[in-house]
Amino acid sequence: MNDNAVIDQGHDGYTSEDHGVWRTLFERQAKLLPGRAAPEFIEGLDALGVEAGGIPDFERLSDRLETATNWRIVAVRGLIDDDVFFDHLAHRRFPVTNWIRKPEQLDYLQEPDCFHDCFGHVPMLFNPVFADYMQAYGQGGLKALEQDALGYLARLYWYTVEFGLIMSDEGLRIYGSGIVSSKGETLYALESDTPNRLAFDLMRIMQTDYIIDHYQQTYFVIGSYDQLFEATRPDFTPYYEMLRARPAIEPHEVLPGDQRV
Ligand code: PHE
Ligand code: FE
Repeated sequence: MNDNAVIDQGHDGYTSEDHGVWRTLFERQAKLLPGRAAPEFIEGLDALGVEAGGIPDFERLSDRLETATNWRIVAVRGLIDDDVFFDHLAHRRFPVTNWIRKPEQLDYLQEPDCFHDCFGHVPMLFNPVFADYMQAYGQGGLKALEQDALGYLARLYWYTVEFGLIMSDEGLRIYGSGIVSSKGETLYALESDTPNRLAFDLMRIMQTDYIIDHYQQTYFVIGSYDQLFEATRPDFTPYYEMLRARPAIEPHEVLPGDQRV
């Protein structure tokens, strides 16, 4: 691969307004997440917590992350091509968008920015099992591209990495980065009566469409990261074959075989 999309973070280029946005969002979420986010996320957040004063320097953060799980983060301009993204994950590099949202976008943003990517994704990368899952996902992504099966695998990412819930010893918790980086969805995912919360089911997830412009209508709940890792260990080739023969399930649908949590 000759263009891996990596750029310099340009840390000196952030304005005090940029750092202020990070601080505001960080403090708001750090206050909301204890008792709501998974214990593993909270632990990872402590590692990032020393950066509460402003946007982290990716090199310094990477040095700590590398010590913990051998991952690093790299700066990118924004969304990157699928093959480039998967190649980074497969090599234990997480691409983080370098720019941050404006003060008038605290609550909603269409695309991932530095706060979503860094605050949302990096804490879980400090967890050894989740770190391995993310690398395996990257390898699986490269394979899914060859098999023209990316749509199925993307749903898995969506319903676990981005919007996953976990039943911890202390009760239902969030770990998905799209939830933990959003104040509104943190509360909605756990406390609203509106969404469905269904037990994790790999094939069910890979069959389910998702919405990108709204809070989720359905969340899937894992019992542990080991469960997630083990379920995704087999070769997906036969799974993709089965999925091709099945119609998509709509985001809000609850089927007779679904197990509500
Ligand atoms: N085991 C999957 C495959 O063979 C790859 C994968 C791993 C997918 C982990 C998702 C998560 O395709
Ligand atoms: Fe994300």
